[in-house]
Amino acid sequence: MDLLNELESLVPELERGSGQAFSLAELEELRVAFLGRKGRLAHIMSHLPGLEPEQRPAVGQKANEIKARLTAIVDARRQELEAAKEAAALARFDASLPGRAPWAGSLHPTTLVQEEICAIFGRLGYDVATGPEVENDYYNFEALNMPPEHPARDMQDTLYITEKVLMRTHTSPMQVRTMLSRKPPLAVVVPGKVYRRDSDLTHTPMFHQVEGLMVGEKVSFAHLRGTLTAFLRAVFGADTQVRFRPSFFPFTEPSAEVDISCCMCGGHGHVNGEPCRVCKTTGWVEILGCGMIDPAVFDSVGYDPKSISGFAFGLGVERIAMLKYGIGDLRMFFENDVRFLSQFV
Ligand code: PHE
Repeated sequence: MDLLNELESLVPELERGSGQAFSLAELEELRVAFLGRKGRLAHIMSHLPGLEPEQRPAVGQKANEIKARLTAIVDARRQELEAAKEAAALARFDASLPGRAPWAGSLHPTTLVQEEICAIFGRLGYDVATGPEVENDYYNFEALNMPPEHPARDMQDTLYITEKVLMRTHTSPMQVRTMLSRKPPLAVVVPGKVYRRDSDLTHTPMFHQVEGLMVGEKVSFAHLRGTLTAFLRAVFGADTQVRFRPSFFPFTEPSAEVDISCCMCGGHGHVNGEPCRVCKTTGWVEILGCGMIDPAVFDSVGYDPKSISGFAFGLGVERIAMLKYGIGDLRMFFENDVRFLSQFV
C-alpha cells in the first residue's frame, strides 16, 4: 500500500538529512519539515480520510510508529550536536586563568565604629533609638536647661532653619524625647548625625555622635564610671586607663569629661623618642562628655528628681574612629576616597 511505503521512506530520508544538520537551528528546521503541523508526516496523514475504513487502523498504527522513530532520530542528533557544542566551549575555556574577584564594597569607618559602640552597649542591656536631625529649639536647648540667652548655647555654633527650628547640635535632645516617651528604668544609646557651624582641620559641619542615657532608682556616678570604663576598655583594649575630669554641661550635674590613656603612645607621651602627636605628650586624650542628669532636665520631662536619678554621656564617633584606627586627618572621613574607605573591613 502506497501510504505505508511513503511513511516508511520518511525514516531513511530523515536519517540522511539529520546527518547533514550541523547546527541545532538546522536540525530544528528539519524537525519542523518532517514532524511539524504542516510537515511531511502530517501531509501523508491528510490522505487518511480517503482510505477504506478497514485500512485506516493499520495506517494509523504505522504513522504512530514512524512518528516515534523520527522523533528518536531528531533527539539523538540533538544530543550529538549539544555535546559537540559543549566540547567546543570547553576547548576555549582555560581553567588555569586567574579569576576576576568581584568588587565588594565595605562599610564606612564611621558606620563600623558606630555599630561597634551600639553593640557594646547592647550587650550591657541598652536599647538603640534614633531621633530627628531637624530639631526644635525646645528639645535641643530649652528642655536641656539652656533657656534663650543662656551663655552655654555659645558652646555650639548652631545652624538655624527658622528662629525655633534648627539642625541638632548634639544628640542630647534625644534624652528629652526618650524620657517623654518611655518610663524609667530605661537605658538607651542614640547614634546619629549632628551639625555645627564649624569647619577647620579638626571640625566638620556634620559629624556623628552617640548619646547614652540611663535612668532609674538610685543610679549613681559610680554606675556611670563603671559603665564608661567597661565601654572604653571594650573599644580600646583592656589595658586602657580611664580618668574623669570635672567639667560643665548645663544638662548634667555634676559633669565630667573623660580621658583615656593615649592609644598611640600607650600613655608615655613619646613614640620612639619623638613627642606623641596624638596626645601632645600629655599621655591622655579626651574622649567624651558625661554627667548625672540635672534635676532641671527631669523637671522638664515630668520626672521626680527626688525618686529618680540617671546619667548621660555623649561621644564623637569620628574621634573614636581616628584614635582606634590611627587616622590623623578628620577630612578623610568625608572625602570618600575609595583607597581610604576600602581599608576598613
Ligand atoms: N551633648 C554634649 C556635647 O555635644 C555631650 C554630653 C552628652 C555631655 C551627655 C553630657 C551628657 O558636647
